[in-house]
Amino acid sequence: MTIELGERSRRRIFDKNHNRYVVNGIEPHKPTQMAASSLLRPFSENLCQQIESTHMEIEKILRKAIGKPAYSHPGFILYRGDCCELLARLESIDIPVDLTLTSPPYNIGKEYETPISVGEYVDWCSGWMTQVYKVTNQQGAFWLNLGYLEVPGGGFCVPISYLIWNKSPFYLLQEVVWKYGAGVAAKRRLSPRNEKWLFYVKDRTKYTFNLDDIRDPNVKYPNQKKNGKYRCNPLGKNPTDVWEFPKVTTGARRSSRERTDHPAQFPLGVVERIVRASSNPGELVLDPFAGSCSAGIASAGLGRLFLGIEISHHYCDLAIDRYERFKRERENAQRQGILF
Ligand SMILES: C[S@@+](CC[C@H](N)C(=O)[O-])C[C@H]1O[C@@H](n2cnc3c(N)ncnc32)[C@H](O)[C@@H]1O
Repeated sequence: MTIELGERSRRRIFDKNHNRYVVNGIEPHKPTQMAASSLLRPFSENLCQQIESTHMEIEKILRKAIGKPAYSHPGFILYRGDCCELLARLESIDIPVDLTLTSPPYNIGKEYETPISVGEYVDWCSGWMTQVYKVTNQQGAFWLNLGYLEVPGGGFCVPISYLIWNKSPFYLLQEVVWKYGAGVAAKRRLSPRNEKWLFYVKDRTKYTFNLDDIRDPNVKYPNQKKNGKYRCNPLGKNPTDVWEFPKVTTGARRSSRERTDHPAQFPLGVVERIVRASSNPGELVLDPFAGSCSAGIASAGLGRLFLGIEISHHYCDLAIDRYERFKRERENAQRQGILF
């Protein structure tokens, strides 16, 4: 379903369920697609040329500074390695990043991490966040997804944001609560159903924020007027700092089409909203803990250039395979031309 913005139809009320995957004009994720139609739309000829030429330029500089990428295709570059080492080398070259969005390991014993003390973890986070700051463009942003960890003797589900929110030179603009429907069922405490996104900028007076690109058309009283004028923006309302996006589901019958074998995959919906809000077409998006490259798929599907770093061979292979499938889906959708 494409959201109509004609004068007659723009005032329709959308039901609550519609707002599971909402950005202007995006249809809810179809179970048969690995990405929403909003990521499959063709780009203008100009943007295609810009992506190709910027990609070539960036790749050339990167190859010189940090070597051959694990994968490269116009709009998508993935390096395998330790992000702290690679970011240190990026600091010395001129490739300003416009947006970094990422989720580091939470130090909770997942298959991709070796637990360290809380103090060491905080120092480690401070180190790589400061490196991200150094490679970020003056008007750039940093979106950091964080969960919870145990602080021995102090707390069981301690929000990681309480420990690291001010451990880099970035300016914290706000916290966004990401609410999701399903998760572990706790017996002696409340079942956790949210994680946080910290939205940082480098310069608090000047940064990219494309509110109209992420407005929520699910407006309760779209026809309400004041002094003869509609009260509500025809594109919808501000999506607020509480976002509801389901996690990527697993399981024999309920696994979503975007699911990979990565245990901590971002849903494309949530990263799509961030990429739209905090970057512009043709700009560079970084994820230093790229995992299955959800950030990369959303960025490439929205005409940005993606630079991912992932330490695991297995996840790199998985992400490359995912990107190639996504690329084919984009090509097919455009060939058929039925979605747009
Ligand atoms: C929380 S997951 C990120 C998942 C990702 N957001 C996605 O959508 O799939 C963290 C990832 O960081 C990777 N990782 C851990 N330490 C790393 C390091 N030092 N450098 C680069 N990647 C690292 C892990 O292998 C894991 O895939």
